[in-house]
Amino acid sequence: MGLSRRSLLFAGAAAGLACCAGGSGLTWLFLRATAIDTRGRVDFVNKLAIPPLAPATRDAEGRLVFDLRAAPGHHDFGDGPVDTWGLNGPYLGPTLRARRGDHVLVNVKNDLGRVTTMHWHGMHLPAAMDGGPHQPIRPGRTWQPTWRVNQPAATLWYHPHPHGATAEHVYRGLAGMFIVDDPSTDVPDLPHEYGVDDIPLIVQDKTFDGGRLAFGGSMMGMGILGRTIVVNGTLAPHLDVTTQRIRLRLLNASNARVYEFTFSDGRFFDLVGTDGGLLPAPVPTNRVMLAPAERAEIVVTMQPGERVVLRSDPPRLGTPVIGRFVGGADAFDVLELRAATTLAPRPEVPARLVEVPRIDPSDAAKRRMFRLTDQSINGKHMDMSRIDATVERDTVEVWRVTNSDGKPHSLHVHDVQFQVVSIDGRQPPAHLAGWKDTVYVPPGPEYELAMRFADYSDPDTPYMFHCHMLYHEDQGMMGQFVVVEPGQQAGRINHHHHAG
Ligand code: C2O
Ligand code: CU
Ligand code: CU
Repeated sequence: MGLSRRSLLFAGAAAGLACCAGGSGLTWLFLRATAIDTRGRVDFVNKLAIPPLAPATRDAEGRLVFDLRAAPGHHDFGDGPVDTWGLNGPYLGPTLRARRGDHVLVNVKNDLGRVTTMHWHGMHLPAAMDGGPHQPIRPGRTWQPTWRVNQPAATLWYHPHPHGATAEHVYRGLAGMFIVDDPSTDVPDLPHEYGVDDIPLIVQDKTFDGGRLAFGGSMMGMGILGRTIVVNGTLAPHLDVTTQRIRLRLLNASNARVYEFTFSDGRFFDLVGTDGGLLPAPVPTNRVMLAPAERAEIVVTMQPGERVVLRSDPPRLGTPVIGRFVGGADAFDVLELRAATTLAPRPEVPARLVEVPRIDPSDAAKRRMFRLTDQSINGKHMDMSRIDATVERDTVEVWRVTNSDGKPHSLHVHDVQFQVVSIDGRQPPAHLAGWKDTVYVPPGPEYELAMRFADYSDPDTPYMFHCHMLYHEDQGMMGQFVVVEPGQQAGRINHHHHAG
């Protein structure tokens, strides 16, 4: 898929060599024919698609109203039509955008012919609006969550969360970005023209099987590790750059693959934001690792006329025994940036970005331990009718997380943005100085996370916390917490909450 004639020729030559050398030529040829040559290089034959901004209307109550419709379709990634699912289109969904303070309402219509949900990943909102497994949208129905956006400017996203089936729904194409703006802490010197110098990059790995996406099975207990990289639903993409600096909003919307983003020439760039918002100050770096669901905002400086490739190097998974079987040895080209011969000037990235008030872990009303093990958390599998933690509203908690499994895992917590207080007692690196909702947890070190459960309580409706490797999540590596009023008990879970 997505191969140009030149790389096809190269692939043939490589396969031929392998054959003559007594290797398994057929396998080689098959692997080569997935747009990845021996070094993961591709020819960038397709123009990068940019998800459109979703149009919004204002209703009588002044709410910003968006419409999403999930349905099957056929999408051309760049090499012919493939059966996919999408929102308002055949693959992925439009970018929703709202400001802090806006009341939003989203009409989510389900025309998939099966139950789904829609979860607002990274959003601080009431549990009944969260779109987890307790808010199913039945076929043909419309779910209408509404909430007030109240959090810092950030790159969030949305995706289904149906019980036991999240991996397939996301893999087939149901995902989109949700950009939050915060006028009170705006940093006007950061590139901010959507689609021009502020570019969403939804990075995923797929395995194509003719006109279908191959879904199913599991490699080394990790679920899908696709052989081909797509960005915004485009194979082998290139992006024409017209400004001296660009902001890339990177979202790892893959099921299991971890990326270590870097550039082909090793250049440095500024990491300016993580999952839940901008960092206090830009972090100059030449690599950024993202586990599934994590986001990073980076600003890259370009020279007129140059071409540079965004790549993924083998990620440092910290899983010595099985690392190379779970993507730890894989390298890929992701996107080629092609700068115009004249570039519109853009200001330098300011030395200070935003205030990130530190949560004081000594304020913790409660400390909890979470041990990530094979397909479970603290030895328990997800149970829709069990509450694993009851949290009091407006308190701070410290969650200590370890991976005692040997496999790659991550922890994602709904409703909140947390701060990484320490890793094995040591201060976290600068790139973890901001707001996070998902953190990669390699086997070994203990991650101490501090979070405040503000504003909303609902003793009957839980939020989720889970590994965001979607196969693990579906296998039951998930738990539930409720936020209650001080002194209140957890209620009875309302898991027949009908939508529509
Ligand atoms: Cu991105 Cu519980 O999800
Ligand atoms: Cu989430
Ligand atoms: Cu996991």
